[in-house]
Amino acid sequence: SLYLYQNQFLPKDQVSISPDDRGYYFGDGIYEVFRVYNGVLFEPEGHYRRLEKSAREVRIPLPYNIERMHQYLVELIQANHIQEGTVYLQITRGTAPRSHPFPPLDTEPVLMAYCNQIARPLSTMEQGITAITADDIRWLKCDLKTLNLLANVMAKQEALVQGAGEVILHRKGTVTECSSSNFMIVKKGEILTHPANNLILHGITREVVFRLARKLDIVYHERAFTIEDLHSAEEAFISGTTVEITPVISVNGRAVGQGNPGPVTRKLQQAFEQLVN
Ligand code: PDD
Repeated sequence: SLYLYQNQFLPKDQVSISPDDRGYYFGDGIYEVFRVYNGVLFEPEGHYRRLEKSAREVRIPLPYNIERMHQYLVELIQANHIQEGTVYLQITRGTAPRSHPFPPLDTEPVLMAYCNQIARPLSTMEQGITAITADDIRWLKCDLKTLNLLANVMAKQEALVQGAGEVILHRKGTVTECSSSNFMIVKKGEILTHPANNLILHGITREVVFRLARKLDIVYHERAFTIEDLHSAEEAFISGTTVEITPVISVNGRAVGQGNPGPVTRKLQQAFEQLVN
């Protein structure tokens, strides 16, 4: 498969990342994961806007502008003949001997992108997944999509060890989001999800869910809720680029609602389906 590396297309084995890359030493970089449906990038503007924000806030200069980046990603998808899949893009602060301060100003950021042909997660979207809860021990800039994912990785692994599909993170009982997706519950027919502040990633799929909810006349609130609220919710689901809208049918071994994907979740899934088909 072909990779985009800086401004070249190369086979994977010709992409050589230095051991001095600051992404490798410090997780000093940012990334995005895009979905491709029918050979076309899904919601690219939202991803680019978020990438620009992450870049600005961690002060990594983008190596080229968004128009050029978009052209490269379109070319990458075509060169790899991707119909259904994802594009991963990351940019690190560049290569320099290990030292905490930013490297010299003329250090070039390192950009790398590749795509994967991946089927949509049809069976988990149909059946739902189980989840556990865990303390959200991440830093206070979770709205930036940075490479520092150790807390997310540790939490996700704990879910897998316990036979669950995702982990719902909370700060002192207030639910934030999941290890690699946003989290929403349904109470009295209305959607609740954590506000888009510094404690969660402002998911592109989360925004799509809001758009669909407005279209379907489903009320939603960007309002923090607790684990207790979750335990008395009628429905719960996660949203994300790779998981789309996936029902959560139990949490810590306790059924959510009737223990089946609920009607509000189903309506949103059906509306999402129309967007991507
Ligand atoms: N994760 N929250 C976190 C912590 C995430 O890592 C992600 C996405 C989301 C959902 O955002 P979006 O709808 O824009 O995909 C929420 C990507 C897919 C990943 O790290 O692989």
